[in-house]
Amino acid sequence: MQKLRVGIIGAGQIVETAHIPAYIKHRDIVELTAICDINEEKARHMADKYGIAAYYKDYQDMLKECKLDAVSVCVINRFHAQAAVDALNAGCHVLCEKPPAMNYEEALAMYEASKKNKKILTFNFHFRHAQEIKILKELIDKGMFGNIYAARVQALRRRGIPGWGNFINKEVQGGGPLIDIGIHMLDAALYLMGFPEPDYVAAGAHQRIGNRSGVGLMGSWDPAKFTVEDSLFGFIRFKNGATLNLETSFALNMKEESIMNVHIFGEKAGASAFPLEVFSETDTALTNMEFPYLQEIDKRYESIADFINSCVYGKKPLYKAEESLIIQKIIDIMYKSSETSQPLKW
Ligand SMILES: NC(=O)c1ccc[n+]([C@@H]2O[C@H](COP(=O)([O-])OP(=O)(O)OC[C@H]3O[C@@H](n4cnc5c(N)ncnc54)[C@H](O)[C@@H]3O)[C@@H](O)[C@H]2O)c1
Repeated sequence: MQKLRVGIIGAGQIVETAHIPAYIKHRDIVELTAICDINEEKARHMADKYGIAAYYKDYQDMLKECKLDAVSVCVINRFHAQAAVDALNAGCHVLCEKPPAMNYEEALAMYEASKKNKKILTFNFHFRHAQEIKILKELIDKGMFGNIYAARVQALRRRGIPGWGNFINKEVQGGGPLIDIGIHMLDAALYLMGFPEPDYVAAGAHQRIGNRSGVGLMGSWDPAKFTVEDSLFGFIRFKNGATLNLETSFALNMKEESIMNVHIFGEKAGASAFPLEVFSETDTALTNMEFPYLQEIDKRYESIADFINSCVYGKKPLYKAEESLIIQKIIDIMYKSSETSQPLKW
């Protein structure tokens, strides 16, 4: 069997910590063929360090010369869509980092390119691969929760404004905690709820702490360069009557240092994901179910392995391209609703 020829666009931290290790672990079926970065020195360094045969400054040259089967898109968010569309048009399957894109139009262009070229487009929403989410999904699919009619999503940090990278730059990132951390929990909740169609979306975004200097638990940031929201609180009402409350923040005056969680509420049972607990009842008593022996698994590895297996063995990736359209549209509407102070129809 011919190995899957993989190229990587962007040679930053997520590539080194997640993508390269996962591809190397699959060396029996994957040939990590080339890497590129507009900062050529970074691409060269990564190629030397991990024995990748070729490195490039311009990904178009890589796509032209390397006869790739699959590409990881790991550039800054502003270039996700262009890089993914170009890779799909060059005949490659694409695994793109989250968030899908800067806006719905870009996400749609990516989706259409994948359909036109009949190539896989999937995204690195690795929380779906957490044991807790997998178990919850199984229990939900078996009917243990009945109809799920509410969810609460939390991705909150007390003072976790990153002091490095592009996280506070709206022009490059497209947003703040909503697209960086909130999106992971939002995706997990939508996945558990079966991606119901939204009816309307409302949100309020704030810039209350990031635009002034203060104590940082993730380095210190430059308030003059802080152009994203530091908190956003949102609400989705779905056409099936279910609702979802979302709370996300890089900096919030709360007790805990950090909370990443999804809570779902069904007619027969409810649950919190992290740590996993299921709340239900017998004929005579309320019950709590705990899962004390869950093994810690490497979610990022699982997510990239899922992409590799989809490319090599033709299985469907866990994250479907069409789901990226829903999540990106929710994000667009949450930002728009914040700007206009209006709930907005889907
Ligand atoms: N799944 C997750 O939990 C997770 C975690 C971290 C980062 N990410 C995502 O991964 C992506 C990269 O993040 P990172 O933390 O590795 O950032 P990073 O800044 O470390 O790396 C980004 C790299 O892209 C390069 N680049 C920018 N424009 C380019 C272009 N046009 N062509 C080629 N290279 C280009 C930059 O020079 C840089 O080396 C972002 O989309 C981010 O949201 C996802």
